[in-house]
Amino acid sequence: MTDPALDAEALRERAVASLVTARERTTLLTDCVDEPDLTAQHSPLMSPLVWDLAHIGNQEEQWLLRAVAGQEAMRPEIDSLYDAFEHPRAERPKLPLLPPDEARRYAADVRGRALDVLEGAAFHGARLTEAGFAFGMVAQHEQQHDETMLITHQLRRGPRVLAAPDPDPAPLFTGPSEVLVPGGPFTMGTSTEPWALDNERPAHRREVPPFSIDTTPVTNAAYQAFIEDGGYDDARWWTAEGWAHVRRNSLTAPLFWRREGRQWLRRRFGVTEVVPPDEPVLHVCWYEADAYARWAGRRLPTEAEWEKAARYDPAGDRSTRYPWGDADPGPEHANLGQRHLRPAPAGSYPAGESPLGVRQLIGDVWEWTASDFLPYPGFRAFPYKEYSEVFFGSAYKVLRGGSFAVDPVACRGTFRNWDLPIRRQIFSGFRTARSEDV
Ligand code: AVJ
Ligand code: FE
Repeated sequence: MTDPALDAEALRERAVASLVTARERTTLLTDCVDEPDLTAQHSPLMSPLVWDLAHIGNQEEQWLLRAVAGQEAMRPEIDSLYDAFEHPRAERPKLPLLPPDEARRYAADVRGRALDVLEGAAFHGARLTEAGFAFGMVAQHEQQHDETMLITHQLRRGPRVLAAPDPDPAPLFTGPSEVLVPGGPFTMGTSTEPWALDNERPAHRREVPPFSIDTTPVTNAAYQAFIEDGGYDDARWWTAEGWAHVRRNSLTAPLFWRREGRQWLRRRFGVTEVVPPDEPVLHVCWYEADAYARWAGRRLPTEAEWEKAARYDPAGDRSTRYPWGDADPGPEHANLGQRHLRPAPAGSYPAGESPLGVRQLIGDVWEWTASDFLPYPGFRAFPYKEYSEVFFGSAYKVLRGGSFAVDPVACRGTFRNWDLPIRRQIFSGFRTARSEDV
């Protein structure tokens, strides 16, 4: 094997790079608007951007400065302001939050000290810092809030403040519309991925009966056919709760869509455009995804089916880290990291396809699964119960695969996201599946 000193240096470099990348994104998302905009609440569903900014710093202080390095709290009086469990999002604008310049300075102070801690950290001996875990966890946390802040930007009214190049047009895709995944056991979750979070652990065998799954996420054109067919007015396609929800809230299309004559338009980061037919559908809730699947004579994949489609390599009878193998994600594999501010057309990223030929499992849109958010057998909360454990149960549905808005550090073949089945401000889409006869 390799020299352990070199390994430690490589880990340290990776941790520094992940923290720096996250901060660059945070800075971009918070420097592009003025002070009133940073402190305003753009939606009751979201925090003011300035809350996310100081919360990012506060989490980093708690984990890297206090837990890892044993330092005293820098400003103990602010901890409770930035505790997500003490104050629901709707209340946060009324709190005596640090103003933007102070929030920036606080986050920067914490970062300076955290890099000093990282400089001298050992990556062996303590579970929290094993293989740089705490540093990876903090970088992932910041990137998760960078996705949250991008959602706030999408909800915000007003002219465009963010821009990015569009993804390339999809290469001509002539493959099948669905792929058969053979039945049998596969290894789900991980016990070896060093920066995997507690809910992804441990690796365990799962029996999965044979099923077929869409080669690509469901497109806007396909979803429009559901709308035009009266899908939102037909109780047959909806669960009882889903039907009650669409009626009560008069839902008729994905969030941000608006009909004008015979066209569907949508607003995206301050710009209105015609809904592009070949892009994966975005901003649908679980109830809408589930109803579309039933209308199509199909169903949502379970979480285990999704992960088997993404990681199972029949050639080696093993689970790979990503659909394309074990290599870290590159721009040829997947649309990640806010490089583009939209999903790529269905059929993109041939280099990212799974051994069975399923595309765009990673990146583009989070994919709703049929499954509730539950612990794996042998789960142990680490390092804190409030990351995953308090959310386990039937209230939350699992989403997989990551969106264009999530950074590679916070997205893996095993990564699990979750949300309420009514949520659709998130970058959520889906693909469908069906059972095959055994
Ligand atoms: C994993 C995206 C559901 O944003 O609520 C951020 C991530 N946890 N800070 C969320 C998270 C604590 C979490 N999700
Ligand atoms: Fe957080």
